[in-house]
Formats: sequence, structure tokens, C-alpha cells
Amino acid sequence: MSDLLARHRAVMPNWMALYYNEPIEIVGGKGNRVVDANGKSYLDFFAGILTNMIGYDVPEVREAVESRLASGVVHTSTLYLIRGQVELAEKIARLSGIPDAKVFFTNSGTEANETALLLATYARGSDQVLAMRQSYHGRSFGAISVTSNRSWKNNSLSPLNVHFLHGADKHLAQFRGMSDAGYIAACVDDLRHVLATAVSKDVAALIAEPIQGVGGFTMAPDGLFAAYKEVLDEEGILFVSDEVQTGWGRTGSAFFGIQNHGVTPDMMTFAKGLGNGFAVGGVVARGDLMDGPHAAGVATFGGNPIAMAAANATLDYVLDHDLQANAARTGEIIISGLREAAPRLPVVGDVRGKGLMFAVELVDPATKAPAPALAARFLEETKRLGLLVGKGGLYGNTLRMAPPLTLTEDEAREGLGILVTALEAVNDEAR
Ligand SMILES: Cc1ncc(COP(=O)(O)O)c(C=O)c1O
Repeated sequence: MSDLLARHRAVMPNWMALYYNEPIEIVGGKGNRVVDANGKSYLDFFAGILTNMIGYDVPEVREAVESRLASGVVHTSTLYLIRGQVELAEKIARLSGIPDAKVFFTNSGTEANETALLLATYARGSDQVLAMRQSYHGRSFGAISVTSNRSWKNNSLSPLNVHFLHGADKHLAQFRGMSDAGYIAACVDDLRHVLATAVSKDVAALIAEPIQGVGGFTMAPDGLFAAYKEVLDEEGILFVSDEVQTGWGRTGSAFFGIQNHGVTPDMMTFAKGLGNGFAVGGVVARGDLMDGPHAAGVATFGGNPIAMAAANATLDYVLDHDLQANAARTGEIIISGLREAAPRLPVVGDVRGKGLMFAVELVDPATKAPAPALAARFLEETKRLGLLVGKGGLYGNTLRMAPPLTLTEDEAREGLGILVTALEAVNDEAR
């Protein structure tokens, strides 16, 4: 074991996972590649869990942050006007499509979801919330309570009364063979049944990820959330879209993931990539919902000048370079390439994704049961071949990938080549 790994194990929590039999320390990066402490270079298809959204060492971001640093003021608190915060909020409010939108900045996705849940429960005077099965929304009490993945639930204590819905689980045996339209109809019926049987009086909100991140990029068929929203609207139940992974054009076909369903939610939460590595999260919500709470609130470091400089530069870069279109283009190269390879690789149970958010599910070639050990093996193989990828899914057998939105077509083909080579190696071993 390396000295750093031994020291890590001694002082960091056991439940904070490290990838790889021999975990790596990333010490440098440029463009869409990083270098580890041994000098080995990797094409990065996971980008620090989607945080380095436009790659590494981006001059526009570096210069924006350096110029803030040079001002001598790293933080002021939100008791004083922060120009970068107002500018970023204006952009996000406009992009959100939410009427009269207002924005509150936090330091993480968890904190963003806590805020959204607070706003929704306050507005509706109810602690009852709907969430999706297989979801992940963060690690605090409120966020865990709307999380539906036992591997990530460290307790069942909850400030909320939560019911979990179908909608992103069309793979389950009971839905097998259904058309998307049939599945959506069944899910809507189930939602109505939950509302009729499981709740009391008013429900505050539904919180949902348009594509489930930790869930292994499982997703509802396009249109499901529009069908849900019709039912929710009948009762005034609010809709919160958790865009922590799906925002900023990553899905290629829409700027925010929920727009793939033709839905304008009441609130969206965001974090991860917006600061291109700097800690920025937040909620964009209808103004009346945001302004609702009667008591004061502050996130001391939320919307800090350094994070805002990074986020403004990152968002401008995404828009100026139309990285949504790039995500659609490069994602298609990889997803269609994986789909082409899948039929000759019995370990591949499923290939799914949208834009630069795609996943491969590994299964036992004989039984088709989830194969987490093969996923772990795949991770080692891609590492050896110089590609960083992620892992997830309810059964730990999903390889999930979300490269920087700046990925070039050549890099897409290079990464695809490594993915297929690694899949072939795992496939050969599994036979
Ligand atoms: C969809 C989603 N929501 C919320 C979170 C929590 O964000 P954070 O880890 O920044 O608190 C995550 C993190 O993985 C996420 O994927």
C-alpha cells in the first residue's frame, strides 16, 4: 500500500470510497486529460464526478479566478452586494425558463436540495414529499430521506414523510415488454393510487432527477414527467427537478435535463459542474416560492466571489461554444459505437444515455444477473488503458461516464476504442 493510501485509511472515513485496487492521486490536468502521481496520463470520462465540466486548466476560468484573488477579497459574505452573484443569478434565471425566477446559491448539491425541500414544504405547509425509486439527492437528513438506494442510506431518520414512485425502473420484471407509452400510463396510474392511498391531505412536492446519476443513469422515458406533472398540477403539488448531474446541456438534447420531457418545473437544483471544480450549488425557483419563508436564511459561503467568478466564466464558456451541441455530437459517437459493439459482447446488459451522460450495464453472460465484480474488473482495465470512468447503479454493476462537455470528436473515438477494448477483455474473461 502506498504511504498516502495508508495515511488516508488512517484518518478518512471507511464509507468514503476510493476507486481502484491501487487508488490514484491526480496531480495535474489539461484539456480533457489528467496525470497521476506516477506520471500516467488518462483521458477523463468521469471528470471528478461531473465537476470539471469544461475540462482542466481552462484559461478563461483560471483568469477569472486569478483576477478575483488579485483583488485581495476572497469572501465578503452575502451581507454585501456581490456583483458576480447577481450576474450569475440573472443568467440562470433566464436559462431556467421558470417564470419570475430567483436564485439562491449554496456550496453543494445536498444543500441545494435541502433548500428546495424547505421551500416546497414551507409553501405547501406539508412534510409529505414524493421521490423516485433509485434516486440519489445527497447525504444530509433531508436529502437521504428522498434518496432511494439502500447502499447510500445510512439511516432512516427523516424530517420528511416520503413516498417513492416508479418511473425510472422500466427494466423491472413487472414492466418488461411494455412500450414507453404503456409504461408511462402504468406509472401515472400508480401515482394516482399513491395519492389516493398513501398520503394525507396536501403533498408538498415531487423531487426527481431527469436522469438518475448514482442510480446508474437510469431514466424515465421522455414524456413521463409531463404526464406526472398533469396529475401533480391537479393538486398543486410542486415539481423539483434535481439537475445536479443533468444541467448545462450535458444531455445534448436540452439545456436542463427536465426539458427533455417538455416540462418547466417549479424549481431546479444544481451543483457539480457549474463552477468547473469550484464549489457552487443552488436552487432556481419561482420567485413566490423563493421569497416565501418568513425567517431569515443565509449560506455563509454560498455565492462567494471566487466560486461566482469560476461559475460565470464556466457558464459563459458553455454558451459561447455551444457545448450542448458538442455533447449531442460527441455523445452520439460514443453511444452508437457502444450499441454497435454490444450484440457481440454478452456481458453488456444495457447501453443507455443522452449526450455526454452514458452508461453500460455489466451482467453475467449466462444468467444476465447484475455483475458488480465485472464492473470492478472493467474499471481496472480502463485504468490500465488510460481512461477514467465511473461506477454506480443500484447493484454496482453500471459503468457510468460523463466526460467534460469540451470533449472533441477525436477524443470521443479514442475513448470509445478503449471502452470497447476493455469490454472485450472483460467479456473474454467472463466466458
Ligand atoms: C443528482 C444529485 N443530487 C444531489 C447530489 C448531492 O450533491 P453533493 O455531493 O454536491 O452534495 C448528487 C451528488 O452526487 C447528485 O448526483
